[in-house]
Amino acid sequence: MSPTTQMESALAGQDAAITVENVSHSFVSRDGAIVQTLDNVSLDIRRGELLCLIGPSGCGKSTLLNIIGGLLQAGSGQVKVNGRPITGPSPRELSFVFQDNTLFPWSTILDNVKVALEFQGVPESERQGRAEEALEAVGLTEFRNHYPHQLSGGMKQRASLARALSLKTDIVLMDEPFAALDEQTRIYLGEELSILLAKSNKTIILVTHSLAEAVFLADRIVVMTARPASIKAVIDVKEDHPREPEFMASGRFADYRNDLYALLRAEIEKTIGGFVGSAAARDRTRRGICQPAGDAP
Ligand SMILES: Nc1ncnc2c1ncn2[C@@H]1O[C@H](COP(=O)(O)OP(=O)(O)O)[C@@H](O)[C@H]1O
Ligand SMILES: [Mg+2]
Repeated sequence: MSPTTQMESALAGQDAAITVENVSHSFVSRDGAIVQTLDNVSLDIRRGELLCLIGPSGCGKSTLLNIIGGLLQAGSGQVKVNGRPITGPSPRELSFVFQDNTLFPWSTILDNVKVALEFQGVPESERQGRAEEALEAVGLTEFRNHYPHQLSGGMKQRASLARALSLKTDIVLMDEPFAALDEQTRIYLGEELSILLAKSNKTIILVTHSLAEAVFLADRIVVMTARPASIKAVIDVKEDHPREPEFMASGRFADYRNDLYALLRAEIEKTIGGFVGSAAARDRTRRGICQPAGDAP
């Protein structure tokens, strides 16, 4: 594995499904303070690749994904999708899967998928077939007439995935889609996703905080710095898709995961350093040497 410490140079034109060019962004918090979130992020996302964004909590991953998806306007810089600047939501080109499943509780799973197709402007005559096809792809056919509260967390996320797949966009943006699930379920869904995507040739950006999920699923992993996020490194995961569960137990997997953690560790420390104190102070405390006044416990 060889992480590059800077973004890759621009891809030759048509290979890039998405280009992020010098994007910076700040929010104004309630008390009027300016919170800079993204610092000059540039990145090409190749057609058909699964790119993971990973970084400390609160660094700006969702902000970047929302700017790419046209849900938020960048403070400066621009994003192009298929060569055209994105200026707002583009449901024919991009679909989303969010962490909290966003299913309507009063509609069946089938109707939830059909409603998304309606929003996208798909003719009514096609909606039933497309929704059933997508539910079958995620193994939910027999639950199509159930309501969201009748499904487990994992099944609800599969339904959200079906809804995104039914839209047949070439690009899918996923923001921590498995974060609220237990570990076994998320590993299992990760395996399913790997199989599903190997067949689909979609371009995916997946935000995750799970090192294992990133290594298992990604073609490339973009490691973000602490806020304001910039790109710290890009890691190529050179493994074919679909990935087998055995990959997770391999030495190669452990190497990728360890390298990734080594890159992230300093950024996590910057993020939570105010809470645990400096590395040196923590080391002193661990060894029971001293606890200077003012040091965090
Ligand atoms: N709408 C908003 N208004 C003000 N601050 C925001 C808003 N959205 C996010 N932030 C702040 O921007 C930073 C980055 O947020 P986010 O992109 O959600 O981080 P991540 O997804 O990496 O956890 C955080 O400090 C967050 O509190
Ligand atoms: Mg987020």
